Amino acid sequence: MPITKNKEETATFAKKIAQKIQNGGVVCLFGDLGTGKTTFTKGLAEYFGIDRIKIKSPTYTYIRKHATKNDQNIYHIDLYRLSYIDELLLGEINELLENPNDIIIIEWADRMEEYLPENRINIYLEYIDEKRRSIKVV
Ligand SMILES: Nc1ncnc2c1ncn2[C@@H]1O[C@H](COP(=O)(O)OP(=O)(O)OP(=O)(O)O)[C@@H](O)[C@H]1O
Ligand SMILES: [Mg+2]
Repeated sequence: MPITKNKEETATFAKKIAQKIQNGGVVCLFGDLGTGKTTFTKGLAEYFGIDRIKIKSPTYTYIRKHATKNDQNIYHIDLYRLSYIDELLLGEINELLENPNDIIIIEWADRMEEYLPENRINIYLEYIDEKRRSIKVV
């Protein structure tokens, strides 16, 4: 299982995953607070030409949209503050999932585990110590 030694390595790892979903795809991130989900998202977005500074966890909304240069969208979804997924949000997310050319990345994907699409990449991040994280791709 890959182990990253700092946040740059996690961002670099994300770019390798990004290559696999250049034409669209869904990446689901699992892992406790501070394990690197947003860091991973920044790396992934950077691969598509989006400045990593633009990637921050949504505070007043669950979904943030970023347009890439290739007429694609990256939807960054962060479900941390969610205790249950309501129909309205689920409907919104399902609508996004209908466009196979877009890139959808979901932090705290376990909050909607039973509704996740079959076709997805699961990333499990685990804290080892202050600087190291293990990353499992399923
Ligand atoms: N190997 C590593 N990979 C990723 N982040 C690391 C690593 N080592 C240290 N860090 C630090 O851990 C923190 C990870 O924060 P990040 O916001 O990416 O986590 P998160 O999983 O999104 O947290 P949250 O659940 O709060 O959204 C950052 O402060 C980062 O600098
Ligand atoms: Mg985060």
